[in-house]
Amino acid sequence: MQDKVKEIYQEVEAYNLETPEQVEKFRVAYVGRKGVIADLFDQLKNAAPEERRALGAELNALKNFAQSRLATVQQHLENARTNGQSAPPADLTLPVVPNQLGTIHPLTLVRARIVQIFERIGFNVSEGPEIEDDWHNFSALNFPENHPAREMQDTFFVERNPDVALRTHTSSVQVRLMETQKPPIRSIMPGRVYRNEAISARANCTFHQVEGLFVDENVSFADLKQTLYHFTREMFGKQTRIRFRPSYFPFTEPSAEMDISCGLHEPGVCQLCGGAKNICKGTGWVEIGGSGMVDPNVLENCGIDSQKYTGFAFGMGIERITMLRYQIKDLRLFTENDVRFLRQFTGLG
Ligand code: PHE
Repeated sequence: MQDKVKEIYQEVEAYNLETPEQVEKFRVAYVGRKGVIADLFDQLKNAAPEERRALGAELNALKNFAQSRLATVQQHLENARTNGQSAPPADLTLPVVPNQLGTIHPLTLVRARIVQIFERIGFNVSEGPEIEDDWHNFSALNFPENHPAREMQDTFFVERNPDVALRTHTSSVQVRLMETQKPPIRSIMPGRVYRNEAISARANCTFHQVEGLFVDENVSFADLKQTLYHFTREMFGKQTRIRFRPSYFPFTEPSAEMDISCGLHEPGVCQLCGGAKNICKGTGWVEIGGSGMVDPNVLENCGIDSQKYTGFAFGMGIERITMLRYQIKDLRLFTENDVRFLRQFTGLG
């Protein structure tokens, strides 16, 4: 019987186990309940009592060996099946295929930075619809009907309906906010806006704005100035100066246009046009948006007591800020999605 055990041991060791069929045959022949090893266990009772113990141990060893061979090949087969059976083993000497990462769009980068700056000083972010009605885009903002101020912003109307338009500014979100919330309101509204303009390096029919609104008791023009001063220094650098020029918007009174210094008059610090004077046109200042104290009519239109509350508002173009920050000369680059342009922003953000 000992010889038989040895013989079977060799068989088990040499058995060709490549296909699932061979494995199954092996299992039935050796490991199964009716296999040769089980048979040998049965015969153990016929062995001489003094040999039984040693034989039993050898048989056990044989059984374990057969079982572990079976388990190993089954595992291999299972792995091959889940990896795609016929796939050749991976060639680890091949060079790696570079993993092409996408990039964050520069406007998204700048929008995120703007939100971050304002969130730190207590502003939250509000959004509203891009298709607006006349009330939220114009009337509530103190644009009288047929008033020429409406032509400041060439409007796309939807389906020839004069009451439905693509919003021309995100001031419409300010109206929605004031209609639904009680002061104090401190919020910024980034978003896409539309104006019926010919597309060129300096203008597009769609672009992005970020507007801000702060309504509370005793809000003053000084608060507006300081908030925007803080923003521009965080966005463009500590040396940036800010200048307000009187202006007109129907929804603010007084109104002001904001300029930031490009550093032209401060040797060594010019960061916007690099001294080329192409952005500031030699003045040392570039415009970045409009602002003012919310007109009491607008507060009243939205159900806010203008005797008790005052507020400031401002609006800036995100494209404009991005162009100044990254020295981009043509607005069209933002919408053409040329990867040579977009890849320059890899790793930022
Ligand atoms: N809504 C104005 C525009 O689009 C910008 C602005 C916002 C001006 C808030 C003043 C106050 O031109």
